[in-house]
Amino acid sequence: MSFRGILSAVILVFSEGLILQGPSSPLVAQLGGVLRLPCSVETPIPLDELEVEWRRADSKALVHLFQEGESRPESQSDAYRDRAHFFTEREIAKGNYSLLLRNVTTDDAGMYSCGVYTNEETGEIAVEIEAIERLVLTGADHAVTANVGEEVILNCSVDSHIPPEEVSWAKVDSDESHMLVLLFQENETYPGDSSYQGRTEFFTSEIPKGNFSLRLKDVRTEDKGEYICKAHSGLLSANTTVILQELGLSSMHILVLVLCGSAFVVALVVSAMILLDIKGKLM
Ligand SMILES: *[C@@H]1O[C@H](CO)[C@@H](O)[C@H](O)[C@H]1NC(C)=O
Ligand SMILES: *[C@@H]1O[C@H](CO)[C@@H](O)[C@H](O)[C@H]1NC(C)=O
Ligand SMILES: *[C@@H]1O[C@H](CO)[C@@H](O)[C@H](O)[C@H]1NC(C)=O
Ligand SMILES: *[C@@H]1O[C@H](CO)[C@@H](O)[C@H](O)[C@H]1NC(C)=O
Ligand SMILES: *[C@@H]1O[C@H](CO)[C@@H](O)[C@H](O)[C@H]1NC(C)=O
Ligand SMILES: *[C@@H]1O[C@H](CO)[C@@H](O)[C@H](O)[C@H]1NC(C)=O
Repeated sequence: MSFRGILSAVILVFSEGLILQGPSSPLVAQLGGVLRLPCSVETPIPLDELEVEWRRADSKALVHLFQEGESRPESQSDAYRDRAHFFTEREIAKGNYSLLLRNVTTDDAGMYSCGVYTNEETGEIAVEIEAIERLVLTGADHAVTANVGEEVILNCSVDSHIPPEEVSWAKVDSDESHMLVLLFQENETYPGDSSYQGRTEFFTSEIPKGNFSLRLKDVRTEDKGEYICKAHSGLLSANTTVILQELGLSSMHILVLVLCGSAFVVALVVSAMILLDIKGKLM
């Protein structure tokens, strides 16, 4: 083996692993948001001998390719077209091959690889997008019934560790328009339409648990209908509906009715007796 041969073999062994820096922990992105997937080298590599390949580790789909001093969008997988970019030329020159992924979708979760190749050296690291966060709202699994004059709870819970910036309860009117019932915004509660004023509230102590259920007191016949609970936080939003139906009469109302009814019957009997009595006296 020639001296030159030994030398290149030594270089090959010595330089086989380009040291790449990735994220210290798996990444979490918001649905529809922007995410940076870090990948960089300490010592910048001259652009003319640099090749960077970002791929999905599972499907091997090409997410982004940088070759011969420029990005190669034509070879990019359709799923990532126009969504995956490097930062500036300046960052590339500094050895920063981090990827900027826009309009994040749920399908973006998974393992990625950042491969960096020069004429002599190669390096590869894995970068994981662990979760795509979104808001999920749970309402009632069936229609809720209530009695006139009593109170009812309309369930709405936010199933996420992202605290929502805003949660609103609205009633869907017959013309599909929404009438605000109660609003939670930046930790404050605001009343809605005057017809609900003083009759609605959140369970304040339950809010940190994501329970934005509505307590509606002194239910009226016209309260019957569809209610929508909407939440949003940053780019994320979600909604759920609850149907309030079959407004019956409360036991109190029934008792009052029964009493009224009996009073009416008693009154009838009494007046009949009086009438008979008067008739008897006249005869
Ligand atoms: C990303 O989303 C924005 C608005 O949310 C939209 O205007 C743009 O076309 C989207 N881009 C891609 C590549 O989907
Ligand atoms: C790479 O560039 C982005 C955008 O300028 C920056 O946020 C990030 O910190 C850079 N990473 C490194 C390792 O310099
Ligand atoms: C409302 O939520 C509570 C607690 O999760 C549950 O017990 C109750 O059945 C729910 N009500 C409806 C109508 O879904
Ligand atoms: C929300 O809190 C109220 C009051 O504690 C409770 O009645 C209701 O069931 C809770 N709803 C959910 C969905 O946990
Ligand atoms: C809302 O309250 C939470 C917890 O009490 C707090 O972390 C957050 O900063 C508050 N947000 C606003 C906008 O006041
Ligand atoms: C409720 O959410 C669905 C998607 O889940 C959306 O299509 C709809 O427009 C939302 N409705 C409202 C009133 O925000």
